[in-house]
Amino acid sequence: MNEFSLLFPLILAALCAAKQPFNYERDLSFIQPEINDLSDPLTYFVDVAGYENTIYRDGVTSAQLLFSSSNSTSMIQRFIAAFPQGNSGALMYFLNSDDSQATFNNTVQQPNGRLAVKLVNNSLASARGDYNMNGIRGSMTFNNNASLGVTILGSVRAIRDYAEGYYHMDPIFNYTLVNYSSSQVTLRRAWINGTFNMIVTLTSSDTSKLTFDAYPPATSLSPVICNFILGNGVTMATVDFLVLFNESSIGPGIDKKHLFLPAPNVSISALDQALTDLYNDQTNGLPATEVTFLTHTSKFLAGGWRFLTYFGRDDMYSLRLFMALLQPEAIE
Ligand SMILES: *[C@@H]1O[C@H](CO)[C@@H](O)[C@H](O)[C@H]1NC(C)=O
Ligand SMILES: *[C@@H]1O[C@H](CO)[C@@H](O)[C@H](O)[C@H]1NC(C)=O
Ligand SMILES: *[C@@H]1O[C@H](CO)[C@@H](O)[C@H](O)[C@H]1NC(C)=O
Ligand SMILES: *[C@@H]1O[C@H](CO)[C@@H](O)[C@H](O)[C@H]1NC(C)=O
Ligand SMILES: *[C@@H]1O[C@H](CO)[C@@H](O)[C@H](O)[C@H]1NC(C)=O
Ligand SMILES: *[C@@H]1O[C@H](CO)[C@@H](O)[C@H](O)[C@H]1NC(C)=O
Ligand SMILES: *[C@@H]1O[C@H](CO)[C@@H](O)[C@H](O)[C@H]1NC(C)=O
Ligand SMILES: *[C@@H]1O[C@H](CO)[C@@H](O)[C@H](O)[C@H]1NC(C)=O
Ligand SMILES: *[C@@H]1O[C@H](CO)[C@@H](O)[C@H](O)[C@H]1NC(C)=O
Repeated sequence: MNEFSLLFPLILAALCAAKQPFNYERDLSFIQPEINDLSDPLTYFVDVAGYENTIYRDGVTSAQLLFSSSNSTSMIQRFIAAFPQGNSGALMYFLNSDDSQATFNNTVQQPNGRLAVKLVNNSLASARGDYNMNGIRGSMTFNNNASLGVTILGSVRAIRDYAEGYYHMDPIFNYTLVNYSSSQVTLRRAWINGTFNMIVTLTSSDTSKLTFDAYPPATSLSPVICNFILGNGVTMATVDFLVLFNESSIGPGIDKKHLFLPAPNVSISALDQALTDLYNDQTNGLPATEVTFLTHTSKFLAGGWRFLTYFGRDDMYSLRLFMALLQPEAIE
């Protein structure tokens, strides 16, 4: 009830704004989704609410990566890779040696201050694997010894239930340690119905700088142990990550020139002005690019990273709001 009373003025505003009549009987043969161009991915960076977000989309994959902000004061670092395909994702917490949950062997660590785990600029690229798997690869740096904390593979829903829902996770969502060595660790999670898998592989290409100290859980209910151990005197080491899964179903992305009308044709109201600004911004501006990341030929997404999914109701409303600016084909 509350929700509807809030939405009602919005719908009214949208109806008033979008005066332009639309011809719904159009030839749709024109739809030429953008992104088969792997050399020119849609990518941008947003530092907000304590997390550095990097967006990446090309003809293979579409992903939102989150790392704790450089200026975050939290001692715990967080990695999230979220994908619109199936609203899938992977979460890893990294703990420093002062953390009571850290699983370092007694002999190994000294208390070592604040941990910083950062994405290496321009390191993101799409990746393919066997069994129609696709996903994202990149590199991250560690400034200190770290211990893998809670890790969730599979669904953004499960990640949110943990991160927002009293740190609860059902063991049915557990992953397994597939293989491990001092230079590589692979984790895998099978979807509950068994059809799809997600695999996370971490690799150290220079073991003089970083080795993994990983081993399977002591009991079926204790977590996998995985520590990131820097060489003596090393202050910065790189770990390559690869997240692959075989859920598909989002459809190719729509680029800006196929999404927005070539000229704005709206009357002036606050909403129209916002849409016009968005239009004016589309050549180089971030807002238009941000909207573009959410648009695919098969669905418009509700929002990142928690909402890289499709809600029929929200889509209808946002579509109605945007109608004055969108190509009729994009609306179709
Ligand atoms: C803008 O819309 C009005 C009708 O609302 C129409 O008469 C006019 O031709 C349109 N202009 C352009 C440039 O499409
Ligand atoms: C961290 O930096 C971001 C962007 O520069 C800023 O929005 C945010 O307020 C900063 N946070 C803190 C805790 O300083
Ligand atoms: C840490 O402890 C585990 C379990 O006792 C052992 O298997 C592993 O080899 C140890 N690692 C190091 C580096 O000592
Ligand atoms: C990486 O990119 C961020 C955001 O664009 C920038 O603030 C930072 O200085 C870059 N770091 C390096 C090492 O280039
Ligand atoms: C499985 O999940 C439970 C609940 O979150 C957790 O306590 C346990 O450590 C996990 N086990 C493994 C092997 O990850
Ligand atoms: C570990 O498993 C992954 C995924 O199955 C595979 O790609 C990788 O080659 C394996 N690594 C080793 C060292 O066996
Ligand atoms: C398992 O779930 C996925 C969606 O996550 C679906 O595409 C697939 O068809 C399901 N498999 C079976 C056997 O039901
Ligand atoms: C998904 O990938 C896994 C390997 O990681 C494979 O075992 C499984 O059969 C694949 N599923 C489909 C539907 O291709
Ligand atoms: C990390 O642990 C290793 C092994 O104990 C040690 O040699 C190294 O100095 C530690 N690094 C830091 C930054 O504390």
